[in-house]
Amino acid sequence: MCGIRGYIGDEDAPPLLYNGLKRMEYRGYDSAGIATISDAKMLVKKDTGKVTEINNKLDFLSMRGNIGIAHTRWATHGGVTRENAHPHASCGLEVAVIHNGIIENYRSLMENLMAEGHHFNSQTDSEIIAHLLEKHYKAYEDEKQAVLKTASDLKGSFAFLAIFTANPNMIIGARKDAPLVIGVGKQGNFLASDILAFIDYTDKVLFLDNREIAIVKGRDMQVYTFEGKPVEKEVTQVAWEAKDTSKEAFAHYTTKEIHEQPQTLKAALYQDPNKVQEFCSAIERAKHIHITACGTSYHVGLILRNLLARLAKIRSDATLSSEFSHDAELIERDCLVIAISQSGETADLLFAVSEAKKRGGEVLSILNAVGASLDRESKLSLYINCGPEIGVAATKSFTGQLILVYLLIFTLLNDTRRLADLRDIWKAVEEVLKMEDKVVEVAKKYKECNDFYFVGRSLHLPIALEGALKLKELAYNHAEGMAGGELKHGTLALIEEGTPVVVLNPEDETYQEMLSNASEMKARGAKIIGVSNRPHEIYDDFIQIPTVDELLYPLVEVVPLQMLAYHTAVLRQRDPDYPRNLAKSVTVK
Ligand code: AGP
Repeated sequence: MCGIRGYIGDEDAPPLLYNGLKRMEYRGYDSAGIATISDAKMLVKKDTGKVTEINNKLDFLSMRGNIGIAHTRWATHGGVTRENAHPHASCGLEVAVIHNGIIENYRSLMENLMAEGHHFNSQTDSEIIAHLLEKHYKAYEDEKQAVLKTASDLKGSFAFLAIFTANPNMIIGARKDAPLVIGVGKQGNFLASDILAFIDYTDKVLFLDNREIAIVKGRDMQVYTFEGKPVEKEVTQVAWEAKDTSKEAFAHYTTKEIHEQPQTLKAALYQDPNKVQEFCSAIERAKHIHITACGTSYHVGLILRNLLARLAKIRSDATLSSEFSHDAELIERDCLVIAISQSGETADLLFAVSEAKKRGGEVLSILNAVGASLDRESKLSLYINCGPEIGVAATKSFTGQLILVYLLIFTLLNDTRRLADLRDIWKAVEEVLKMEDKVVEVAKKYKECNDFYFVGRSLHLPIALEGALKLKELAYNHAEGMAGGELKHGTLALIEEGTPVVVLNPEDETYQEMLSNASEMKARGAKIIGVSNRPHEIYDDFIQIPTVDELLYPLVEVVPLQMLAYHTAVLRQRDPDYPRNLAKSVTVK
């Protein structure tokens, strides 16, 4: 998904914007650019490639001006070309704009504008915004009106920033179904898709709500609704710091975040007991519970569903957010929707939440990014407090979400013993991190295998799904997570000599059945990689995990799978922090 950021203030904009571009690289991109205004002239530099490569070619830092906008593009409309990179400018360079989102009605708008004499340089939907602003600015001779009219013309999702050569003292931002936050700095103000773009300069943040615009000047700003009504906003101090975003001694953010988990598991448990109790009460009184999320967060949702049924005898559905609206008829007036997300900006999830709210559903969320769109749409949010997760692959956020699920369930049941175990589970994770050398050995043995299977039962099935996803998205090995009981229903046909199978098999009620599965596969030539608290001769490779309360194994057994994916990626010369074709926050449907 694209990353947008802007600055206006006393300082030179290019160095701040360039740093912001690099900070946002994890959001995924294929081209980047900066526009500034200096001596009443618009300067635009942009190209395809990594931010540092483009800078080596175009020298962003030679640009001048105390106002500017910068963009990293993840192509949705139009190929990866210099012309399609942002910023986009109007015909006479009076306006420059950057955009994140998808404009659904851009073709009809473009036809009208071309009929009025506008010429387009790109194949993107985003460029339409620059020409609409140009047209409406000429008509109203007022930037705010031009932005409000443009916002009302657009259908789809957008967060855009615009600067005007006629008025180089302000940046205007507008957002609808895409993230946009404002950083309030000492020497100037920032606008961005994500706090990380300006975390080096300020932790004071103002969150825009949907269908709002902000007129940001060097010293102050004003927010309006799309209808032009002024809105008072509070400035929040976020708990993230610049140091959270450095790799420190680690080779990649991904491995740093895997190793942060003992600390982030502790941080996730720092919760306001009243909020936890309120969340539990909502679960208890709900007539029906829909759990919805995407990707890794969905795997957390599956465990929540399993634990609600097994321990609290509460029935719920866990539905992928992209599928949720197809079940919309199931959403009862007073249902409870539990949304789980790291970014709180996943478009599929936000759409599902809005569909549920339209039908009278109550939304509670478990998420990492305070102030994100999901947070603002939720009646109550529990924050996992794991700090910024830069690696595209979710690791610490997964275990952060998961430990909150356990906290809710054990609080609901008033299970003080297990609550105490939960508070100590970080020690078991610290233990299992010491198995890293063993995991590297396994990664070396099987790194070129292109069909991995991750097999588990009950609570281990979502972890099998998660392990497969990690390996796919980090190392690009094809992998399948599946239920042990399903092998005989087809997949066993694929098991052949040398097929690597990760068997999640700590000693609990699934232990014996999983050993049977392992022997069925081994008899057909599979290489069995056992993840368990107990060794067994059936395993060709064995990754020891500590013995913990059997309900808590998912929190521990996922860590070797994260490490396996990471090290396989490194051995295969992949870039673990920026996997191809993927972005950290999928802000388009
Ligand atoms: C996980 O490793 C992936 N990066 C992806 O599946 C992610 O979990 C999914 O896009 C949901 O993101 P969210 O938690 O921010 O909503």
